[in-house]
Amino acid sequence: MIIRTVEANDIKDVISVSTEVFAKWDSDYYVSFYEVPEIFFLVAIVDETLVGYIISIPLSSHEHVIHSLVISRDFQNKGFGTMLLKSLFSKCKTFHVKYLSLNVNIKNKPAYKLYLKHGFVPCWIEKCYYSKYEDAIYMKKMIGSIYYF
Ligand SMILES: CC(C)(COP(=O)(O)OP(=O)(O)OC[C@H]1O[C@@H](n2cnc3c(N)ncnc32)[C@H](O)[C@@H]1OP(=O)(O)O)[C@@H](O)C(=O)NCCC(=O)NCCS
Repeated sequence: MIIRTVEANDIKDVISVSTEVFAKWDSDYYVSFYEVPEIFFLVAIVDETLVGYIISIPLSSHEHVIHSLVISRDFQNKGFGTMLLKSLFSKCKTFHVKYLSLNVNIKNKPAYKLYLKHGFVPCWIEKCYYSKYEDAIYMKKMIGSIYYF
């Protein structure tokens, strides 16, 4: 298994994983992420098959928000989500990103557990974040430490 930065040829596979797990996404959406170097876009490859991806978008020079973390159904619960998340943490450290934040659907127990396990702190509920009936939990994690004093 390897984790690496997305390449142009990966976009069609990213779209097919996304389509399989969620609804279909506009391909331009992923191409636009791919084209912005400040956006961290990593993919997990198993035996030359793209099995998942993670995307984080800068909010400032110190903070990124996780836009998506998706693992193809047949590969879920095998540790690939954890590996992508840890690779994102390393990339954040390399580029001096100090905070990662995200919104997770309040009903998405697997994702919530994963984020909690990796140090994200639930901060508040975003009411009606996904739809009239679907709330999100806003979570935040500090990457590394600040040595000030
Ligand atoms: C959420 C998701 C990214 C997790 O990735 P994954 O590769 O399946 O997760 P891992 O195998 O690394 O599991 C790590 C932890 O996640 C949690 N988890 C994963 N699958 C779970 C499940 N089916 N039920 C409960 N907890 C689960 C557990 O805490 C697990 O740790 P444990 O094995 O010590 O209990 C993946 O299931 C997924 O793509 N889901 C659909 C898309 C999604 O909801 N993305 C997140 C919001 S954008």
